[in-house]
Amino acid sequence: MNNSNKQIKNICCIGAGYVGGPTMSVIADQCPNINVYVLDVNDSKIKAWNDPDFSKLPVYEPGLDEVVKKRRNINLFFSTDIEKYIGIADIVFISVNTPTKTKGVGAGQASDLKWVEACARQVAKFAKGHTIVVEKSTLPVRTAEVIQKILEVAELSSEREDDKKTFDVLSNPEFLSEGTAINDLENPDRVLIGGVSKIAIDSLSNIYKNWVSEEKILKTNIWSSELAKLTANAFLAQRISSINSISALCETTGADVREVSRAIGLDNRIGSKFLESGPGFGGSCFKKDILNLVYLCKYYGLEEVANFWEGVVLINNWHQKRISKLVVKKLFGTLSGKKIAIFGFSFKANTNDTRESAAIQICRDLIDEGAYLTIHDPKVDPKQIALDLGISPLTQCKENKDKNDLNINGCWTFSESTDIFEEAHAALMLTEWAEYKNIDWELAAKKMISPAWIFDSRSIVNPENIRKAKLNLWRVGDGS
Ligand code: NAD
Ligand code: UGA
Repeated sequence: MNNSNKQIKNICCIGAGYVGGPTMSVIADQCPNINVYVLDVNDSKIKAWNDPDFSKLPVYEPGLDEVVKKRRNINLFFSTDIEKYIGIADIVFISVNTPTKTKGVGAGQASDLKWVEACARQVAKFAKGHTIVVEKSTLPVRTAEVIQKILEVAELSSEREDDKKTFDVLSNPEFLSEGTAINDLENPDRVLIGGVSKIAIDSLSNIYKNWVSEEKILKTNIWSSELAKLTANAFLAQRISSINSISALCETTGADVREVSRAIGLDNRIGSKFLESGPGFGGSCFKKDILNLVYLCKYYGLEEVANFWEGVVLINNWHQKRISKLVVKKLFGTLSGKKIAIFGFSFKANTNDTRESAAIQICRDLIDEGAYLTIHDPKVDPKQIALDLGISPLTQCKENKDKNDLNINGCWTFSESTDIFEEAHAALMLTEWAEYKNIDWELAAKKMISPAWIFDSRSIVNPENIRKAKLNLWRVGDGS
């Protein structure tokens, strides 16, 4: 640990993904006197961040292109030269992926920390002088200890005065949501910094103070900071599972989940946010972070606590399956050879991210039932959909349809237009993109095969318009 309070001039961030890219762009924008280097091992991602066409940035976020346009190659740089920029950085943010382990101890629940460990080793090797290492990735509580141990080895082996390396480790989790990342970063509810060294904490806090008021900068011990991030995501996801579980009860009792949400949300103690019933939460983090919490609880012998939180994920899985099952049921128990128009594939609106999107499981289930899906999404690349579904888009869908063979395998195609109603038996709204609010349902009804169904898992259609168009409607949590 080093106590010198030097001016921060250079920052680098390892990981140019959904968090690293936007977060560093906003820091560069708010701190014109600091050079910000965003680094990644993925060459094509870095090329995309440097693309002269700002619509090709690898992350789609409203407002991000404007910020990058303003600062890129002025004090914001994207590079694969990890060694060079760690070497000049006063602060290194670690913002790499921390997915669930797929094999070995803790498989299916624990976080895979191999990328974080690799970063710690890179920093240990290439850093010069004093470096503040900041955990930006979401990590299991006590990960800082691991990073610290790796860095300590480098501290001890850098004996020569001119080659002396010292480190401080801080936790500074990110709370941005995709789709609103720029606004969340520019106007955060709070910035959380956990650490031991007051000087290191103040150095990082001074960066945020350029645009965040001091009372919103929360300083805690490092373990509280790490655990607060997992807890925040668990609480948010728990609200969604709670309301989705009630949506099923609404459907069988004649209640309306929107009315129930509003009625409970007006209670100040409950609050109105995160009470929208949908197709089940997606996104890269809720599931993996809760599973990680479950693993930690089990590790520390807290079986009941683990079971409590695991329930949030189990209800989410059940809810997604519930939706695909009811589509099959309403379409007379078979989807074989039936065309279904799918509206939205990203896990929420205003992002091109599909990680853990409810659309993946639901579309797979429908394809398994033999359906022919035509998928529209304004931002998701069809190549990504193919990867997520594990099935290539087929022209064969058309061939099968022409043959009118009812024993065909399910398949999918992509459409850039929302006009995908021709001969569809149903339309399924999976992402709440604003443009889906303007669909002309009377026109759609003329193209669909009767009796046609609209399945709205996002409460995005106006039920009145569906009724006027004489289409059947299922809305999540609508028991009327
Ligand atoms: P991401 O997959 O979009 O980006 C991670 C990037 O790190 C990838 O581009 C990968 O190539 C790069 N990388 C991995 N190892 C590397 C190494 N050794 N050197 C250089 N580059 C390396 O992930 P993300 O969505 O940005 O998430 C990053 C972390 O932030 C995760 O821990 C996540 O839980 C957390 N988080 C994510 C969000 C979100 O909305 N996506 C919000 C808050 C926190
Ligand atoms: C979430 C948290 O909101 C962020 O604070 C956190 O930083 C981030 O995870 C992370 O750690 O990765 P994000 O996953 O980007 O952000 O998006 P959310 O807005 O939280 O939505 C997650 C999922 O829940 C989406 O599928 C969304 O459609 C769904 N959702 C959200 C609902 O079904 N109902 C709601 O009322 C709110």
